Amino acid sequence: MRDFRPIPQPPSLAYPVALLDETVWRMVLTSLPMAPIPTQPIIKWAGGKTQLLGKILSAIPQHFETYHEPFFGGGAVFFALAAAGRVPRAVLSDMNPDLVNLYRVVRNDADALIAELQDLELRYLSADEHQRSSFYYCIRGQAPEDSLRSAARTIFLNKTCYNGLYRVNRQGRFNVPHGRYANPKICNQPVILAASEALKLAEIKGPEDFSTVVTRARGGDLVYFDPPYHPLSATASFTAYTADDFAWGDQLRLRQTFDELVTQGVTVLLSDSAHPNVIDLYEPKYVVNRVSARRAINSNGQLRGPVTEILVQGRQPPSTQPEVEPQPVLQVV
Ligand SMILES: C[S@@+](CC[C@H](N)C(=O)[O-])C[C@H]1O[C@@H](n2cnc3c(N)ncnc32)[C@H](O)[C@@H]1O
Repeated sequence: MRDFRPIPQPPSLAYPVALLDETVWRMVLTSLPMAPIPTQPIIKWAGGKTQLLGKILSAIPQHFETYHEPFFGGGAVFFALAAAGRVPRAVLSDMNPDLVNLYRVVRNDADALIAELQDLELRYLSADEHQRSSFYYCIRGQAPEDSLRSAARTIFLNKTCYNGLYRVNRQGRFNVPHGRYANPKICNQPVILAASEALKLAEIKGPEDFSTVVTRARGGDLVYFDPPYHPLSATASFTAYTADDFAWGDQLRLRQTFDELVTQGVTVLLSDSAHPNVIDLYEPKYVVNRVSARRAINSNGQLRGPVTEILVQGRQPPSTQPEVEPQPVLQVV
């Protein structure tokens, strides 16, 4: 269990210590023992990788140049790597415009976002059940052009909608119904601040298709692909994160991108469902590990138990990447 101490507030908010100027306050803060930073996803996201983190992190090499995650979603793997101090720099992207906007705002303008969320939280939590529902549908019906308000809306909907789902209709309008959480944490200030720090390591691209990663990744980089999973059955599909579904043709494009990256000397990891057709795409050329995960978001209750997923590892075989120059053999006579 991690111990999260509250982040100390500036004197004007927390203490009647107007006599301390900012420099002295900073010295006080830096002399305190460091609170563990709760670097973790700021939103709940279908297919989130939190429970598979141990297996994924142990498959990631200790050293790489740049970390790329082109299906970023909730970013569980990035935030865990950043918390462990293992990300030198990163390029993150997603096809979902709401997410891309959210992460830019979290990185660049966390304090203003927190203020917006505190306001939404107060208004929502102080309302009765009926008013909460009307408030939710009112926010859902808005399409703020302002990036800050749009980011606050994305978090608000994620925390108060049914099951933390993200689903849009063909017009790209969010259409998940209101959820029934008694006391949702709409503004988790320490988590947003920690995510903001982690995201300062990253360039945030997009919204864009995953294939763009080929134009940026270089030998020595690491790419982690976590696409919408190929459904094991018709009812197991939850690929409507964007208005465009992720179809079998996209899985084929992804396999091609995977190959190109490995040829460029990039280390590639990919998560997907253990559908036989997906396994056939990668085996036997690449190492395919089977891992077990519990998936909560599924329209069919019978499919909510543990499921097998795959973790594919791709890297250049060592024979094509000599680590030392071959030396002439000295014959001893
Ligand atoms: C399985 S989720 C990623 C989950 C994430 N790893 C986590 O821990 O929360 C898949 C993501 O891919 C994005 N996506 C769907 N189609 C895409 C595409 N063609 N290119 C890039 N991203 C896409 C979705 O918006 C979604 O955020």
